[in-house]
Amino acid sequence: MNCNFKEQAVKTGIPNRTGMEKTVRIYDSPEELAEAFARELASSFRNATEKGSVFTVALSGGSTPSALYSLLAEKYADSVNWKYIHFFWGDERCVPPDDPESNYGMAFDKFLGRIDIPPGNIHRIAGEGIPSVEALRYSGEILLNTRSFNGLPVFNHFILGMGEDGHIVSIFPSNREMFHSDKICDVAVHPVTGQKRITVTGKVINNSESVTFLVTGKSKAETVERIFMKDNGFPASDVMPYHGRLAWLLDKEAASKISGNGQC
Ligand code: 6PG
Repeated sequence: MNCNFKEQAVKTGIPNRTGMEKTVRIYDSPEELAEAFARELASSFRNATEKGSVFTVALSGGSTPSALYSLLAEKYADSVNWKYIHFFWGDERCVPPDDPESNYGMAFDKFLGRIDIPPGNIHRIAGEGIPSVEALRYSGEILLNTRSFNGLPVFNHFILGMGEDGHIVSIFPSNREMFHSDKICDVAVHPVTGQKRITVTGKVINNSESVTFLVTGKSKAETVERIFMKDNGFPASDVMPYHGRLAWLLDKEAASKISGNGQC
């Protein structure tokens, strides 16, 4: 077992959908978490390309995945055939791509602009567009570029961050009903800043083959504990893939209130 993380059978409040495989991995630091997940993702990419099959990834926004994106560019740029890998976003702020707030802008600067990938494989949400129009357009772009199952698009891998309030993508406690929307994408509003966002909705997330949370930092420890111990009052609590895998990758700080419950 890798000494950098403890694979824990942590008792969690996340009900186990039949067939859903759930893993919790706790790392000593955000850097070790990023190293491990970059290695895992690159391996998934290579497995797909060896089969000649397209691999679709929904990237997370926010700051947590920044180290992951840099590592993918620095360590794996030349060992993956990127022509088979298609990148999407789980959500985007309604700002232009060169705005410091842009999730696309961060991923492009740290990662996508540093690898040899066909431009058509990068499916950007146009944050500068009219939100309601862009939500519809992006829904169509997802449908055109992913396979479907049960009438919903399927991402091979959906990467999620989590806010201190338990939000995921741009589904906050204030618009939690959006998780269960029948739309593929919708327009959300940040409850504090009022910033408009385009977000993928929860049924699409749960239709993924694999969903991975990347959560670090002490500020999230209490929310992690409440989610893992049966408090389903958060949008993150609703992430339970219908038929896919669910993994929570935590650093020690984010796991500080649960790590005593598992067996290493
Ligand atoms: C966004 C994200 C959002 C993010 C969480 C965690 O657009 O901000 O999609 O859901 O993942 O807010 O953000 P941090 O990684 O910055 O803590």
